Amino acid sequence: MIRINNISFSYQEFDMDNELNPGDRELVSVAREAVLHAYAPYSKFRVGAAIRLESGTIVRGTNVENAASPSGICAERNALSNAISNHSNDKPVAIAIAAMAEEELTDNPIPPCGNCRQVIAEEESRTGNHIRIILSGKKKTFVIESISGLLPLQFNLNNFKTNLP
Ligand code: THU
Repeated sequence: MIRINNISFSYQEFDMDNELNPGDRELVSVAREAVLHAYAPYSKFRVGAAIRLESGTIVRGTNVENAASPSGICAERNALSNAISNHSNDKPVAIAIAAMAEEELTDNPIPPCGNCRQVIAEEESRTGNHIRIILSGKKKTFVIESISGLLPLQFNLNNFKTNLP
């Protein structure tokens, strides 16, 4: 028996930043500030991420590149490492991401890379909470309720646990 399954996910698209709820708008503005602190001399593509924790605390991260390119790291993973290292019991509830190319914020939202999706998935399974993902561009913003939309059929802590001997 062969079954064809379909996976779809819904996300919100906003044309104007001021249509976002106030908390998401604040998070986007912190991500945009973070962009200015990025270290991206090689790609010149600066990325900023801002994570809101359950307590309301906001933690930032930027991409930090390296002459030996695999040693560089994305903004999302830096922000998450910062959140976990400094606030391990305060669960992330949302992450906003903004990027700048040629000194201008990008028109369109920048989706997180595969590595960052996997790391966000790990954090959702560690905490048991969904993390709202706000991808901001100057002309549009996408809001996705959980990483499972961007990473369906994911390998995470739960698969690992159920497959232990
Ligand atoms: N980058 C991020 O920081 N986040 C992403 O999700 C995609 C890519 C960074 C990595 C590198 O420093 C630069 O953007 C260009 O790939």
